[in-house]
Amino acid sequence: MPRVTALLSALLCVLLSGPSRGYFPEERWSPESPLLAPRVVIALVCRNSAHSLPLFLGTIERLNYPKDRIALWVATDHNIDNTTALLRDWLIKVQSDYHYVEWRPDEGRSSFEDELGPKHWNYLRYEHVMKLRQAALDTAREIWADYLLVVDCDNLLTNQDVLWKLMRENKTIVAPMLESRAAYSNFWCGMTSQGYYKRTPAYMPIRKQERRGCFAVPMVHSTYLLDLRKEASRQLAFYPPIQSTAGPWMTL
Ligand SMILES: *[C@@H]1O[C@H](CO)[C@@H](O)[C@H](O)[C@H]1NC(C)=O
Ligand SMILES: *[C@@H]1O[C@H](CO)[C@@H](O)[C@H](O)[C@H]1NC(C)=O
Repeated sequence: MPRVTALLSALLCVLLSGPSRGYFPEERWSPESPLLAPRVVIALVCRNSAHSLPLFLGTIERLNYPKDRIALWVATDHNIDNTTALLRDWLIKVQSDYHYVEWRPDEGRSSFEDELGPKHWNYLRYEHVMKLRQAALDTAREIWADYLLVVDCDNLLTNQDVLWKLMRENKTIVAPMLESRAAYSNFWCGMTSQGYYKRTPAYMPIRKQERRGCFAVPMVHSTYLLDLRKEASRQLAFYPPIQSTAGPWMTL
């Protein structure tokens, strides 16, 4: 079968004349493929946020990050406004852009038994939100996400590169400092031994951006990124509350 042999040797020639045969170093250089972006779960737990949702969802859509490497985990409940319809319509519109979408609406009730109004934080509501965040964390672990980004539905991520910037810090928990009209932000610089807020001299210089960088603080909340590839992240839990002095994570 001389023809088959000829064909085989032709193929071999092609293979042998590949990049490894070059004489000069630049001919032998074989560029490796770039890595895909890390897999991120973005968890949104929204309640009565219809007023800020269009603005907020716009900032999520405009994040400079490949959407096919993002899974959205969205829960809403106890609404007295149009939050559920807005979120549902948005998810229907964008879901095909994202890797995966988990939607957990609960239209059952509009308030908690012991609450005084839609802005009142009571124990049941707090516990409920912690359970939802735990469910988001469980999902992120189940689908082997690299990161979990938790964002409150009125926190506007105006810096489109925020995900990459936070990832570059290479921390188990890291948060972007959020602006507000007052001194309020999403981090503490001090904590009492009972776990309450303590104002320290370090706070204002960071808050006013007189000191810039990435600082170790005892508490971040509202918007933060968890690196689930870090071993320490295995100790993170939102619910049930951790009964120990091991760290600030339980109050996230
Ligand atoms: C609620 O949102 C839906 C979907 O965006 C919209 O069609 C509807 O008109 C809204 N209702 C109110 C009361 O704003
Ligand atoms: C990020 O931190 C890990 C340890 O948690 C370390 O092994 C790794 O080299 C760091 N990566 C970069 C790019 O610094």
